[in-house]
Amino acid sequence: MNLILLGPPGAGKGTQARLLVESRGLVQLSTGDMLRAAVAAGTEVGKKAKTIMDRGDLVTDEVVIGIISDRLDEPDMKGGAIFDGFPRTLAQADALAELLERKGLTLDSVIEMRSDDEVLVERVTGRFTCAGCGEGYHRSFKKPAKEGVCDKCGESKMVQRADDNEESFRTRLLNYYKDTSPLVGYYHAKGSLRSVDGTAEIDDVTKQINAVVTA
Ligand code: AP5
Ligand code: MG
Ligand code: ZN
Repeated sequence: MNLILLGPPGAGKGTQARLLVESRGLVQLSTGDMLRAAVAAGTEVGKKAKTIMDRGDLVTDEVVIGIISDRLDEPDMKGGAIFDGFPRTLAQADALAELLERKGLTLDSVIEMRSDDEVLVERVTGRFTCAGCGEGYHRSFKKPAKEGVCDKCGESKMVQRADDNEESFRTRLLNYYKDTSPLVGYYHAKGSLRSVDGTAEIDDVTKQINAVVTA
């Protein structure tokens, strides 16, 4: 099964993708995580992407399509993937359709995670992530059982993303409406769009996703 999670910054794409990895054995393909890994590793791509990402703008289509194309060639793709944060432009959506076709893969559903701008800003500014395993947390909505310690791996170093401030968030949101939201109509026209209420609680969103992907 291949799924796309489509939604604005803070909609819960990463949170639900990680749950789908656990429940369905799918591979999470987050272009945001891949780019942050490139930044941390100091690669050429990472050096170019860093300032663009910090201010909340989109990295070029060419770069992200290249990253996804390489990743789809790896053997673990056979069991299916969850695209988290990709595609984000119409050019990326067309490129993904072509790549999947060329590799003999199909796209099953595109799940639109609908939200509310004021909910999103609170989600993004309160987020922190485990430096060990990447598990995401929130200071109000998803606290680790023991303060400052990751439930998943026991790591006690937590990090905040450089773009998780209100200014970058507003740019990310504007870019979502400008460049990414047309994909809602694009996938609706292709018959693959399913929508869920992303403002619901985490477990409830998971139930809605399970209902639409098995329907
Ligand atoms: P990316 O990393 O994809 O960031 P984003 O799209 O801005 O989305 P987020 O990761 O902020 O939100 P999310 O939906 O994953 O929310 P999460 O589950 O963490 O991209 C970053 C940058 O990389 C881009 O700005 C761009 O520069 C570049 N980039 C990436 N892909 C690109 C592409 N394809 N093309 C061009 N450039 C690209 O949840 C947020 C918080 O809320 C967490 O704290 C979580 O615990 C909490 N939470 C989640 N769900 C709920 C819920 N239901 N109720 C309460 N709290 C919740
Ligand atoms: Mg994310
Ligand atoms: Zn961890």
